[in-house]
Amino acid sequence: MASSRVRTETRSHYEVQRDRRQAFAEDWRQHRQALIRPSDVAMSIVAPGVSKGYYIGTDAGRPTRLVDCALHRLDAGSTTVAYRHSWDAVLFVVSGTGWSEIDGRRVEWRPWDALHIPHWAAHRHGTDDPRGAELLSVSSEPVFETLGAAWMLDAVEPSPTAGAWPELPTERDGRDRPGRLAAAAQAACGGRIHTDYEDIPLRPNPKGTRSKFLVDPSIGSVTSGLTMVMVQLGPGLFQAKHRHPGEALLYVVEGRGHSYFGEDATGGEERSWERGDLLVVDHFVWHQHFNDDPKRPARLVRMHLMETMLTTMQALLDPLPLLEEPPEEMAKAPDASMPDWPDDVRPS
Ligand SMILES: [Fe+2]
Repeated sequence: MASSRVRTETRSHYEVQRDRRQAFAEDWRQHRQALIRPSDVAMSIVAPGVSKGYYIGTDAGRPTRLVDCALHRLDAGSTTVAYRHSWDAVLFVVSGTGWSEIDGRRVEWRPWDALHIPHWAAHRHGTDDPRGAELLSVSSEPVFETLGAAWMLDAVEPSPTAGAWPELPTERDGRDRPGRLAAAAQAACGGRIHTDYEDIPLRPNPKGTRSKFLVDPSIGSVTSGLTMVMVQLGPGLFQAKHRHPGEALLYVVEGRGHSYFGEDATGGEERSWERGDLLVVDHFVWHQHFNDDPKRPARLVRMHLMETMLTTMQALLDPLPLLEEPPEEMAKAPDASMPDWPDDVRPS
């Protein structure tokens, strides 16, 4: 069968590749999304007292290239099924208190804390909070699936001996590939897996907002490139307009506002948002976020896979600029060092 299919192809390799790439680009543009609302998320029960629904990703009918995003709702007293998977994930605690077991390490979490599930780390979550709990996850599964390296096991032992990829040797000469990769896997499972929201202060930044890392190499996270940042927009203020490659996801933690999205820096579309919405920057689009409340700050938690994907693209596309922050737009940014920010207090 295979040989007869080959004989029927009369085009050269050039034409085959060209047509395939053009068809992909045209098809993929149909998947663009700027805003996903909670009402777009179809929740389904995945374990007793536990439901899950995807904001974005293949399982939501909204496929992505790098990251997907899901909401997990846990009723009081419930525990999730334990999983292992080849990709990693970050979680943001939207509401409630609870615990996670991640490759033998147990952490307690509260609202606005962050978690990192390393590659192949057995993990499960639970809550005894009478109000239940909600976790938002962003995973690197789509890029692993693209590469044919997305594997998962469910209903695994919940608290195995600590250590990702346990079949890898732990003591080898780090200069050869097996040793280098074993050392990297060991480093991944020894990285930060939990950030208490109060561990790190919000700091003013040149784009006109206050922000803090919740998951990042600079605070000890060892991820596929996934990072998480809390961004706070002052009352009636905004972030400087810029553009960069997708996919960046921004979950609205509190407040209301609108965002500009455009192929050009002007003339694009504006989308209003409120708590629980997910903003999606999924391609090289100009964007800017505005807090429409004149009295209260707004908060967005931003998650993306750029620390590895963007640097790879940068290496491959140099000298093309992949992050555009025009000086005139940066000059318009509010002075985020203003002294009258309200106290940075998370929900109880
Ligand atoms: Fe951005």
